[in-house]
Amino acid sequence: MSDRGFTKAVLITGAGGGIGVRTVAAFAERGYRVYAGVRSTAGIPQLDRTGVTQVELDVTDPATIRRALESIAAERGSAGLQVLVNNAGVIVQGPLELVPDEELHRQFDINVYGPQRVLKAALPLLRNGHGRVINISAATAQLAMPYLGPISASKAALESLSHAARVELAPWGIPVVIVEPGAAETPIFAKAEAEARKALALADPSRVALYRNQLAAVEGAMAKQKPGPVDRVVKAILRAAEARAPKACYVASRDARLLRVLSRLPLRMRDRLLAGSLGLAKVEPAVGAPR
Ligand SMILES: NC(=O)c1ccc[n+]([C@@H]2O[C@H](COP(=O)([O-])OP(=O)(O)OC[C@H]3O[C@@H](n4cnc5c(N)ncnc54)[C@H](OP(=O)(O)O)[C@@H]3O)[C@@H](O)[C@H]2O)c1
Repeated sequence: MSDRGFTKAVLITGAGGGIGVRTVAAFAERGYRVYAGVRSTAGIPQLDRTGVTQVELDVTDPATIRRALESIAAERGSAGLQVLVNNAGVIVQGPLELVPDEELHRQFDINVYGPQRVLKAALPLLRNGHGRVINISAATAQLAMPYLGPISASKAALESLSHAARVELAPWGIPVVIVEPGAAETPIFAKAEAEARKALALADPSRVALYRNQLAAVEGAMAKQKPGPVDRVVKAILRAAEARAPKACYVASRDARLLRVLSRLPLRMRDRLLAGSLGLAKVEPAVGAPR
């Protein structure tokens, strides 16, 4: 598809996911030329709309990143790219004692090194296009949640890189903006649960048994939480993309704001509140487990 007639262009990674599909639609409706980064070469039907081209882009694979950016550069020429949305992400969860090394690596490869790889590759186009970068973080960047250690650490690292990049890229007028969603209703949780179950099935059963009561409590507490609508996140992304002078960070929902408040409490108080809210406060280690 030719990009003639489009003054603004956006590249969105992880475009086939819950937040990605809606973000693609929102930018397309506002007249952007949208490059929807997807891992699947088969194509994603929900992304078939005017002004949208699916580009193969796996954030862990430098060759696909290079090819995607080359094809965008060939089409856009000196118009460059106005917005990069680093949205691709996964959740790795579970007791830190039982999270396999490869899973922790996958968490950082996708959520931290991935956005950094795409940013580096996209910078020439962003300079040409007087563009900006939007990094999709999470409220857990502010407050590490027990049993969500890997995702929390990855988003804290992503925010740290974003803060450094914001100052480094200021001389070229390239804003680096963080969008921090709370829980939003997408397939990400089911995927994380499935991967966590696989990891637990391969772990030493005697160690898994140690966490039986804690995992049941956390699962019960999580089941009661109702994720909010994806639209709130999309609105925050659009604000970050279109504000003349964007804020450094857009917090996209009430639960995310609440976690920010909790994160400022003294650590012991914060730990007690977290343990209470996850139903962990009165949980004893499983019978027979060493304390
Ligand atoms: N939903 C929430 O509650 C929530 C809360 C806070 C932050 N976030 C963040 O929002 C972003 C989008 O999440 P979502 O809720 O929309 O999840 P999702 O529905 O699972 O979508 C995630 C997308 O990322 C893609 N992806 C995974 N690994 C990739 C890789 N190596 N290269 C390129 N793409 C890859 C997935 O592609 P495949 O389909 O091919 O796997 C999928 O399209 C993530 O960064 C997430 O951490 C979400």
